Amino acid sequence: MKLLVINGPNLNMLGIREPDIYGRQTYKDLVDYVNQICAQKGIDCQVFQSNHEGDIVDKIQAAYGNTDGIVINPAAYTHTSVAILDALKAVCIPAVEVHLSDVNSRESFRHISYAGMACEKTYAGFGFEGYKMAIEYLEGKSNL
Ligand code: DQA
Repeated sequence: MKLLVINGPNLNMLGIREPDIYGRQTYKDLVDYVNQICAQKGIDCQVFQSNHEGDIVDKIQAAYGNTDGIVINPAAYTHTSVAILDALKAVCIPAVEVHLSDVNSRESFRHISYAGMACEKTYAGFGFEGYKMAIEYLEGKSNL
């Protein structure tokens, strides 16, 4: 199984940014966590992070025809980006949305998720564990 994990803007600042919300673990810790889970499961995984909306769109488009699943935390673009929504819809790759924090219990502008409209599932508020849940959901699909 080939998996793409996409992380949006400011997630590279994990460990520094708002630790009361996002915790003290770093972005490298997150990448190591995801890679370790995938290695254990024999999943071929690429983890990508960008602060740029167009780069995320390009990455989703490049996954067309060669990727079995996408785990995406679009970060702030979750709540603004129709372009990321459209890219996910265009490639038709099973996608799962993840948020470290519980976006629905935060400010009202975080309650809207455009990307989530193209995702089969959302895991929010589980910290790093949400990525594991998303990977396992997609792994379960690919075993069907
Ligand atoms: C986030 C939630 C978003 O609202 C926020 O803009 C982020 C991170 C999360 O993982 O909890 O940057 O996606």
